[in-house]
Formats: sequence, structure tokens, C-alpha cells
Amino acid sequence: MNQLQPQPHIKDLQPYRPGMPIEHLAEKYNLNPKDIIKLASNENPRGMSPKIAQNASSLLNEAARYPDGQALLRSLADRYNINAENVILGNGSNDILDLVARVFLGRNTKAISSQFGFSVYQLLTHLTGAENVIVDALNHGYDLETMAAAITTETCVIWIANPNNPTGTFISANDIRLFLSVVPKNIIVVLDEAYYEYLDPKIQSNSTEWINEFPNLVITRTFSKAYGLAGLRVGYGMANKEIIKLLNRVRQPFNVNGPGIKAASIALEDTAFVSESYQCNQAGLLQLMHGCDQLDLLYLPAFGNFLTVEFANAALVNEALLRCGIIVRPLLEYGLPSYLRVSVGSPEENDRLLDALKGVVRL
Ligand SMILES: Cc1ncc(COP(=O)(O)O)c(C=O)c1O
Repeated sequence: MNQLQPQPHIKDLQPYRPGMPIEHLAEKYNLNPKDIIKLASNENPRGMSPKIAQNASSLLNEAARYPDGQALLRSLADRYNINAENVILGNGSNDILDLVARVFLGRNTKAISSQFGFSVYQLLTHLTGAENVIVDALNHGYDLETMAAAITTETCVIWIANPNNPTGTFISANDIRLFLSVVPKNIIVVLDEAYYEYLDPKIQSNSTEWINEFPNLVITRTFSKAYGLAGLRVGYGMANKEIIKLLNRVRQPFNVNGPGIKAASIALEDTAFVSESYQCNQAGLLQLMHGCDQLDLLYLPAFGNFLTVEFANAALVNEALLRCGIIVRPLLEYGLPSYLRVSVGSPEENDRLLDALKGVVRL
């Protein structure tokens, strides 16, 4: 039989590994899917704004036609006091990251990311044939000084998640601005703010105001996390209009689906739901941290909707939790074999996790 001939850089590429699906675990250990809780993908345990369910039929009506994102682009631009030309919609914010990689990276170029940074950055960089330059983490977060020092004439993109996934670390607005001011303006800096809405408003940056000042800045945000729409796949990027024009050249026509656009438009207006989600997440983080303190477990600083917890034997604890019907996220592939990342669940789910941990923590 003829051998398939993928491009050389595809041969050693590993696909992105999502959190284990509930059905998969149910089958593996013969569990009732209803008894399984999934705290592995940083989803919103409150679901989505009830206003979306109230408009379910109008969402479905969108499914028969090709989608049009103009109204959502304008609403986002109004929300952030920028122009619609500064915004682009994506099939999740992941799509925007992919567009950036395809427009600005390729053979003989390099992208800088951080050790323990979101894994998609390295995957996308590799996919374009560009080289990954991975800077050692500082206290599990970004060492911006060393990242700036790693810039060479071949650098085309710098990837930063703030807060970071999977370590949950946070960089202050001042530090990011300082970094932006030293990066040459021909190098794209991606500031991935997927967890922005989960930040205490007191430390939220006004990063959208920076896109006029820094023509090389791309901010990405998403409706997947605090807005609770992970399954509908809607994210967006904000940048100087010249960058947005370039990203639009490679964007697939109709990359975001109509029901998703409609749901995101409703979700954007329901600011009460988002601030309640923030409050619930703060309470959930406190609940998890308190429980871990009682079990003498150490964890990293948490600025997103998850807690990254250290164990003497994380692999065994993970396996034991799976047998109890609890899915969390092992971080072996991130080079963090002694950590598990736990998404904040509902108060009951958090309790169930902490109860289960009591039995398995010393494994
Ligand atoms: C840091 C970060 N960026 C981007 C994404 C992609 O999210 P989405 O494509 O659902 O917007 C995630 C998802 O977990 C994330 O953690």
C-alpha cells in the first residue's frame, strides 16, 4: 500500500489533548455518566446565561443560513470603545491564535513562548514550520525580562496567556505594558486573555486601550469561559486594523456559526450573569484552597477558574479520582508531573472533589 506522505513537521506533532470526556470514563470504569463530574476543561459550572435558553428558538433559526457576525463585531467594539475594524471573530479564541500563527509564522521564523505556557502556542508554531523558543518559567509564570532578551531578528510572534493556563499565574498591567514598550513593533505580541472576566476588576488591565499605542498587539478573549459558551465556539481578537485585515485574509468564510454568534450577542449583554460567575468562581476558589489547606496540599496562585495542586504522586491520585467518577486534568504533558489542574465546579462538585481527595491524597 502507498505510504501517506505528511509534511515533515507534521510527523512529530502530537494532537491537542482535551480533558477526558465523561462518556469515555463511564465506559472505562462502568460508571453512570450522571454520577461523573468533570473538572478538567475550565468550563463554567453555572452553564450559560438563562437569557440564551429563553431565546433558544431564535438561536436555532440562525442555523439554516450562513452566519453574519457584523452586529456582534459592532457590539464588541462598542463595549471596548474601539472600532469594528479592530475586532475579528473566531471559532473559539483558538481560531484567532491559529490565524495569527498562519499569517505571521512560517519556515525560518521563530516564536517565543514560556515554559508551562498554554500548549496550543507551541503546537501552532510547530504547525507552520516555525521554531519554538521556550523561555524558562519564573515561579511557574512568565519571565518577561528573559523573554525580551530572547528576541532575535528571526522572532515574529510572542505568545503570552494572562492569566496563564495551566499554572493560573498573572502578570500585572504595568509589567505587560513595560514588556510591550521594549518589544520591536514588527513582532506580534499575542496577549491571550481567555480568563479575563475571572480577574478581580481591581487588577483587570485596560488592555483594549493599548491597541492604538502598540500596533503589534493582538488581544484574544473568549465566550467559552465566564460566558459559559464553550460548546458554541465563539472567541474574538482585537488589534490594530492592519493586523485584523491580514487575519481576515486567511480566515475561513463563515468561521463562526450563526447560533453561536446569536448566543454570544445575548451573553455579552447579560453583564449580571458574568459578574455572578465571577463571584461564584471566587467563592469556589476559596472553597478549594481552604480544602487543600486542610489536607496540607500546596497549590499555585490562582487567577483563573481553576486551581493547580501539587501531589506526592499526582498520577495515582488522578487514577483514584477517576475511579470515584471525578475527572481532573493531569499536567504530565506540560512537564508538571506532580500537579493536577482542577477546574472550579459548583459548590457541591467542589465538596465532592475535596471529600474524594481526603481518601486518596496520601497515595
Ligand atoms: C489560555 C487559553 N487560551 C485559549 C483557550 C481557547 O479557548 P477557546 O478556543 O474555547 O476560546 C483556552 C482554553 O482552555 C485557554 O486556556
